[in-house]
Amino acid sequence: MRALVVGGSGGIGAALAMQFCERDDIDQVVVSWHHRRPVIQHQKLAWLALDLLDEGSIATLFGQVGEIDYVINTVGFLHGKGWSPEKTVSKLDTELFMYSMSINVLPTLLLAKYARSNLAASERPVFAALSARVGSITDNHSGGWHSYRCSKAALNMALKNISIEWRRVLPRCVVAALHPGTTDTPLSKPFQANVAASQLFSPERAAAHMLNTIDKLTPQDTGNFWTWDGSKLPW
Ligand SMILES: NC(=O)c1ccc[n+]([C@@H]2O[C@H](COP(=O)([O-])OP(=O)(O)OC[C@H]3O[C@@H](n4cnc5c(N)ncnc54)[C@H](OP(=O)(O)O)[C@@H]3O)[C@@H](O)[C@H]2O)c1
Repeated sequence: MRALVVGGSGGIGAALAMQFCERDDIDQVVVSWHHRRPVIQHQKLAWLALDLLDEGSIATLFGQVGEIDYVINTVGFLHGKGWSPEKTVSKLDTELFMYSMSINVLPTLLLAKYARSNLAASERPVFAALSARVGSITDNHSGGWHSYRCSKAALNMALKNISIEWRRVLPRCVVAALHPGTTDTPLSKPFQANVAASQLFSPERAAAHMLNTIDKLTPQDTGNFWTWDGSKLPW
């Protein structure tokens, strides 16, 4: 089997790629990178440059990779480029909002647009993206982080929509939104102060949780939102 991990320079993306490599049932792991070429190495790894903001780059990637069993998008943006999450709506930043939507939502839709035929031959194709619990509308009890929350909620809708459409055209496929738990990466670094040590996962642990969750899913589970321990999150 072959896996595509989008975003191999990220903490969770790199760990996920390595864990795919270590599995006997996986022959090749294609990993995409954009800004930073990742440092991990393994004989099963193949690197491909990918600009997620360029639809042509995504179309070219799927033209190159051939048949694939897993497509996992691990790319996400919370802070950086002078931005931090808006705590109140009075701090809403239009550019941050638009950037968050462009990085956290649109690429998953574009990946789905071009991945379908590459997934068609797989016995149990998986198409998943890393969402976040804060994208759950039902689970939102504290507010804030407007652009990030809205973008992850929109990502969840995108995944649900893809799952409904693919039930007809890719009936063996599992489409999933995954919450990795708070994980020690650059993305969460500024927000770890109030996280108990037991609740802060290493990227390796988060990746193992998600592979464990994915492995248990069947096509009947498609179109759901899963947290790191394999339980279902409400939208
Ligand atoms: N860490 C957590 O606690 C946590 C919790 C819930 C959900 N998540 C989600 O898990 C996913 C992985 O996050 P992480 O913790 O591994 O973060 P990370 O280490 O900061 O990695 C983020 C990844 O996104 C890529 N990326 C960001 N902006 C990009 C852009 N404009 N174009 C292309 N790639 C871009 C980065 O690539 P470059 O480095 O090359 O820019 C990197 O590969 C994200 O979707 C995040 O929202 C994380």
